[in-house]
Amino acid sequence: MEIEREVLLASFTTFQIGGRARFFARVRTPQDLKEALEWGEKEKVPFFVLGGGSNLLISDDGFPGLVIKIEIGGVSLKEEGEVFQVVAGAGEPWDPFVVRTIESGLSGLENLSGIPGTVGGTPVQNVGAYGVEVGTAIAWVEAYSMKTYKKRLFQNTDCQFGYRTSFFKTEEGRQWIITRVAFHLSKNGAPNLSYREVRDYFTNRETPPTPLEVREAVLLIRSRKFPDIKVIGTAGSFFKNPAVDSTTLAKLLKEFPDLPHFPLRGGGSKIALGALLERLQWKGVRRGRVGVFEKQSLVLVNYGGSTAQEMREFAENIIRDVREKTGIEIVPEIVFIGDRLQIPGDLPRG
Ligand code: EPU
Repeated sequence: MEIEREVLLASFTTFQIGGRARFFARVRTPQDLKEALEWGEKEKVPFFVLGGGSNLLISDDGFPGLVIKIEIGGVSLKEEGEVFQVVAGAGEPWDPFVVRTIESGLSGLENLSGIPGTVGGTPVQNVGAYGVEVGTAIAWVEAYSMKTYKKRLFQNTDCQFGYRTSFFKTEEGRQWIITRVAFHLSKNGAPNLSYREVRDYFTNRETPPTPLEVREAVLLIRSRKFPDIKVIGTAGSFFKNPAVDSTTLAKLLKEFPDLPHFPLRGGGSKIALGALLERLQWKGVRRGRVGVFEKQSLVLVNYGGSTAQEMREFAENIIRDVREKTGIEIVPEIVFIGDRLQIPGDLPRG
């Protein structure tokens, strides 16, 4: 395993933003991982684990330690009665993996089609889209401790999946590096049509759509809302949809009567922040090289050559505007790496 130096990180992120890693290692096996960790320990440098770079804003100053890029591959499939257990290396690119499960006749991940990133990143923030969260399909997650290099299998409940969060986002969870993820998928599973536009796509259908057809619907719906990451830099939704109490919701609905909102199990409601930002006139706003995407206001974009600093200041303006106009404190959904990039609500990293 080779330790590279001064590697530019921008091209490893879908935002196309970020300075240099002082040290950089590509890890293809658990043994590589152990060696990288031991090297970093010896050199006394901080670690940062990089997957597909699709949910990150990396500082223009880069990362002053060792970036460990997980490239552990491999997919295996095992029948377990009605369900199949599919195990994938953390470095497998997510969408080709989804295609592979669909081609094997399995359902469970088709609603999560078209999402950039790698398999290992999905449990961390419990990736979700079009009515499905990945945590519902995960059987277990294999991870190695940064401190002891010991391997541990986290069963589904150990992962503490929540809305865009999991154990792996906690202080303790950050000590664990995900190397493999196992999914429980089924043959002949019922399609999930809970997301309105996916359901609408199949109106007048008499037979349930196949996983491949659901994938096609999802890809079409996504293409209407998200920029093409080959052309425009983005990390998808920049902020989380906030939860509000009933008083705040009532106040918001007075001003914006048709604001989409969803009741939460523990009380209160989640509001569609994209819809709120649109009503606060943020949709399509562009400042220099950064902006709010013109088709989806939760998505911030780098039109080319933006710095992390510019993106952060732009996001801070949005946070301030929402606070001043509604009293709601919104928090980023993406992760910030490196110095001088902390935004309230985000935990420091690195
Ligand atoms: N809306 C607007 N204007 C906008 C944006 C949205 O009116 O500018 C409305 C939509 O019409 C819809 C509602 O707001 O009624 C919610 O929008 P949408 O269904 O597009 O989803 P979202 O809440 O903005 C979330 C996830 C996405 C995921 C979609 C689809 C978060 C932070 N984001 O976005 O995930 O793809 O649902 O399920 O929860 C990501 O995490 O990076 C991500 C892209």
